[in-house]
Amino acid sequence: MNVLILGSGGREQALAWKISRSPLVQKTYIAPGNAGQLPGCENIAVSISDFGAVADVIRKHAIDMVVVGPEAPLVDGITDYLSAQEDLKALHIIGPSKAGAQLEGSKDFAKDFMARHNIPTAKHRTFISATLEEAKAYLLTEERPPYVLKADGLAAGKGVLIIDSYEEACAAMEEMLGGKFGDAGNRVVVETFLSGIECSLFVLTDGHDYTLLPMAKDYKRIGEGDTGLNTGGMGAVSPVPFADEAFLKKVEERIVVPTIKGLEAEGIDYKGFVFIGLINVQGEPYVIEYNCRMGDPETEVVMLRIKGDLVPALLSLKEGTLHSHKLVEEDFHASTVVAVSGGYPEDFKKGFPISGIGADTDTSVVFHAGTKTGDDHVLTSGGRVLAVSAIGDTLSEALAKSYERLSCIHYEGIYYRRDIGQDVLK
Ligand code: AMP
Ligand code: GLY
Repeated sequence: MNVLILGSGGREQALAWKISRSPLVQKTYIAPGNAGQLPGCENIAVSISDFGAVADVIRKHAIDMVVVGPEAPLVDGITDYLSAQEDLKALHIIGPSKAGAQLEGSKDFAKDFMARHNIPTAKHRTFISATLEEAKAYLLTEERPPYVLKADGLAAGKGVLIIDSYEEACAAMEEMLGGKFGDAGNRVVVETFLSGIECSLFVLTDGHDYTLLPMAKDYKRIGEGDTGLNTGGMGAVSPVPFADEAFLKKVEERIVVPTIKGLEAEGIDYKGFVFIGLINVQGEPYVIEYNCRMGDPETEVVMLRIKGDLVPALLSLKEGTLHSHKLVEEDFHASTVVAVSGGYPEDFKKGFPISGIGADTDTSVVFHAGTKTGDDHVLTSGGRVLAVSAIGDTLSEALAKSYERLSCIHYEGIYYRRDIGQDVLK
C-alpha cells in the first residue's frame, strides 16, 4: 500500500520513519515534507490547505492511507472533504472530522465538552467583546494570580497568556477581544491556574475503542530551567517517570474513557489521534488541553518507542477492529533535543547551510523539521530545524546520544537546550 503523510515538520518525519518501516507499506509520500530523506519516502510539493490538490495527489499516486500531521487542515475539515469524494471511498484517513477537531479548534468547545462529561480540568468561563467588563470582574473572582487567558481558536501556539498582574490581564483581555489574534480571539476563555507538572498522553481511537501510545513530556520554553518564551517544543522524553501506573489508571478512568465515550455519545466521528495535555496536580490528573493530532516534538520520541508495526492499528480504525491491534511500548527510553534557529521563537534568519548531521544508527536518528534542500547543502528554513533523537536503556543514555550527535551539527546561530530531561532525572 501507499501512504501519504501531510505536513512538513519533525512530527511528520517521525511518522514517516515509523510507517515506512512497515512491511505493509510500499511507498510513503510526505507533502510537502522538508529536506529529510528517509528510505522509501518521497516528498510531494503540494499545499496541504488546498484540499482539492491533496485529493489529486491521492488519486495520482494511488494512496491507500493518508495521515494528517498538523491541526489546521483537520480543523478546516480535510477529513470531511476527502470522505465526501465518491472515488476515494476506500481511503483510510487518519485524522478526525471537522466536528472532532473542535476539541483543539475551539477551547470553549473543549471546555464545555469536558464539563458535559465530567472530565477534570481547570474551572473556566468564556467571554466575548460585548462581555469585556464582565470578564474584568470575573478575573477578580479568581482566588489568586496568575490569570490564564486563552484565545478560543487556533493561534499557532501563541494564544495562551499567563499573567501575574490584574491590570495586565485586563489589558491583555482587551487586546485579545480587540482582534490581536484575529478571529481566534473573538472568544476568550479565562481559566483557573493549575500548578503541577505536565505530560502528554496520546490516544489512537476509532471513535469507539482506543489504544494508548507511549507517554511523553515536552519542554516548551526556549530557555534552560523552563524559562523565557513559549516555543513549539524544544525537546521531549519518553517514558515519563512520574506518570506511574497509579497515575495512568486515574487518567484512563477519569479522562480517556469519558473522552472517547463523550465523542461517541455526541455522534462525533473521530478516527485518529487525540493528544491530551495533562497536568499532575499532587497526583491528580487534569486536562490542560486537547489536540486533534500528535504532538511535535513528542512524536519524535513516541514513534521510537512503539513496538512493532503501527500500520495495522492505523488501518483498523476504518474497520472498527482496533481492539485486536492494541499498541505495545518498548522498555527502552527515548529522547529528542530540538536544534533551533538563533532568535527563535522571535525573529530569526534562515537559509544557513547545515553540516554534521551524519548518518542515523540503530539507536539515534535526526528528524528534519525546518530544513530545505539547497544546491549542495541542507539549509535551515524554519524556527525548529532538527529533532535529534535517540534511544537507550536509561534516559541518561538516550540523552547522551542525542547530545553527542548535536555536538557534531553546525549552522549559524544554532541553539538548543542542554537540560532536556534533567528535571525528570532528579
Ligand atoms: P495550551 O495551549 O492550552 O496547552 O496552553 C499552553 C501552556 O500554557 C500549557 O502547556 C501550560 O503550560 C500552560 N497552561 C495552560 N492552561 C493552564 C492552566 N489552567 N494552568 C496552568 N498552566 C496552564
Ligand atoms: N508539543 C506540543 C504540541 O505539539 O502542541
